Amino acid sequence: MKKLIFGLGLLMLLNPLQAADGEAALYKVEGGTKVDSQTMKGFRTWRAAACDRCHGANQEGMVGPSLIASLKVLSKDDFVKTVRDGRLEKGMLSFNTNPMVMENMNQLYAYLKGRSDGAITQARVEEIK
Ligand code: HEC
Repeated sequence: MKKLIFGLGLLMLLNPLQAADGEAALYKVEGGTKVDSQTMKGFRTWRAAACDRCHGANQEGMVGPSLIASLKVLSKDDFVKTVRDGRLEKGMLSFNTNPMVMENMNQLYAYLKGRSDGAITQARVEEIK
């Protein structure tokens, strides 16, 4: 009995720190608009690379598709490949030679995934202090 209670306690302790798939959470959000420093870097990269020119200020799509919708189905590998290599014949640029994008690919993905998941409720975010 003691062992069981201990086991349950341990489970409850570990659970909130982990995403459903057992990996560390991609991003941290408070109140829909405050994010951890890494996700903040993702937002800054999004702005600096001007992805909004084609995907819209709120990621909901313009010339390019809605990334809110895309990231619900696109795998992380496909995301990285698309942003790195582009789809030149279809109007998506290659960001291969953009150091900020290449260095912050995971952060950019985390930010956009947070938007797509609905956890980040508006495009503009602030850093959790
Ligand atoms: C010049 C316009 C333009 C810019 C700037 C641009 N994109 Fe795109 N993007 C597109 C178009 C057009 C597509 C659709 C390509 C296709 O039809 O397969 C696309 C597709 C994508 C896809 C794949 C979506 C899917 O459902 O397959 C991702 C992810 C993406 N863009 C992310 C980004 C990110 C991140 C940035 C900034 C670093 C960015 N894009 C900047 C035009 C742009």
